[in-house]
Amino acid sequence: MNERSTLTVNEKGHLEIGGADCVELAKTFGTPLYVMDEAYIRRMMRVYRRTIDGEYNGNGMVLYASKAFSCKAIYRIAEEENIGVDVVSGGELFTALQAGFPAEKIYMHGNNKLPHELEEGLNAKVGCIVADGYEEIDFIDREAGKRGIRQKILLRVNPGVEAHTHAFVQTATTDSKFGFSLQDGTAEAITAYALTKENVCLEGYHCHIGSQIFEKQSFSLAVKKCMEFVASMREKVGFIPTKMNFGGGYGIWYTDEDRKLTPEEYAEYVQELIQELKKQASEKGLPLPYLLIEPGRSIVGEAGITLYTVGAIKEIPGVKTYVAVDGGMFDNPRYALYQSKYTPILANRAKEENTQIVSIAGKCCESGDLIAVNVNLPKAKRGDILAVFSTGAYNYSMAMNYNRNLIPPCVLVKDGVAEYIVKPQTYEDLVRNDVIPERLKKE
Ligand code: LLP
Repeated sequence: MNERSTLTVNEKGHLEIGGADCVELAKTFGTPLYVMDEAYIRRMMRVYRRTIDGEYNGNGMVLYASKAFSCKAIYRIAEEENIGVDVVSGGELFTALQAGFPAEKIYMHGNNKLPHELEEGLNAKVGCIVADGYEEIDFIDREAGKRGIRQKILLRVNPGVEAHTHAFVQTATTDSKFGFSLQDGTAEAITAYALTKENVCLEGYHCHIGSQIFEKQSFSLAVKKCMEFVASMREKVGFIPTKMNFGGGYGIWYTDEDRKLTPEEYAEYVQELIQELKKQASEKGLPLPYLLIEPGRSIVGEAGITLYTVGAIKEIPGVKTYVAVDGGMFDNPRYALYQSKYTPILANRAKEENTQIVSIAGKCCESGDLIAVNVNLPKAKRGDILAVFSTGAYNYSMAMNYNRNLIPPCVLVKDGVAEYIVKPQTYEDLVRNDVIPERLKKE
């Protein structure tokens, strides 16, 4: 169990989250069900905000990377916690705005922002656009001009730091669709270009070195490389950034192969980054920039669990036992995509000892539709409630309707009370946009 979260086991031997009994949650809301612990989310948002307040005089802002988990309620929590958000599509922007999130605290990302998305951002007056291309800068310049504004931008750069994480979620190696390399002159060239644009106000740089990273040195190294580049830009083009955004990427616990960090340890990631930033700035005689960080996974990941009901169990003698649940890759595609590991338990028998090694299978028509492989459980039976930990990030946000399965609803729990923040989909939702052309209609 995780000492930072509200996860416990009650006297009935049931798993509890945020004071709510998971067996009761399954009864009330059905399964599969995403459950998010509000206290955990707020605690993590505060840890980061307070670190910037305490260690950097409040000269910065935490941006919650909302790709990790996006729905209206999360933007409300972020606003109440006095942090900003990063959005990476028109859809995330729309959701944030629908929740009434202040546009000036929205940073807009994307390696291929569509013209309509940029227009939506400009119309909403988002605080900043993180530009990642020449044509994008041209577009912003032109459209900002039409609106009589000067749009603030950062440039996405690539410091070439290799972070030790799964290759698919590593974005800062030189072969990347993101950013301009600091090493090969391309970041310099686009800096010079952005500075020529009248309706664009270049404020600084953004980098994000990857995700699910535990090595602190990776982040410090990225800061060092960026600040060396900043110093060279001052020499070469006379530009001194007022803002630096170092992205997110702090790792979380999924299984006991991962470290389980305390809030203080998460704060240390930011403290070290700040120390390096101060050191670099003072060595190079640069002013301290406004600091942005963009944690996503570490804010919501461990805040979430998914509840399933156990269905078919298939024991293949000498091979393995599959325990199938009523969800699968449509609510959590991370095993199918990255062979990500998860820890399940039986939420209705949480005190029982593990006696079996099983694989948790989903219900999709796909052999790779697995949630966890070779994990320990008590002997599972049909009707058991299975909980999977650390599903708060990149699960709901990556869910899909494959096989026309319904994306599960999500409840937010606090002090034992659970409320929908995402209502259940219905079969009607699935066919809402389907159209039968006239010539295919039945008489
Ligand atoms: N900022 C930028 C520009 C990003 O691209 C990302 C994540 C973040 C912040 C937040 O990173 P975090 O703190 O969550 O690690 N779907 C993958 C993760 C993709 C992450 C993409 N970018 C997964 O399920 O592991």
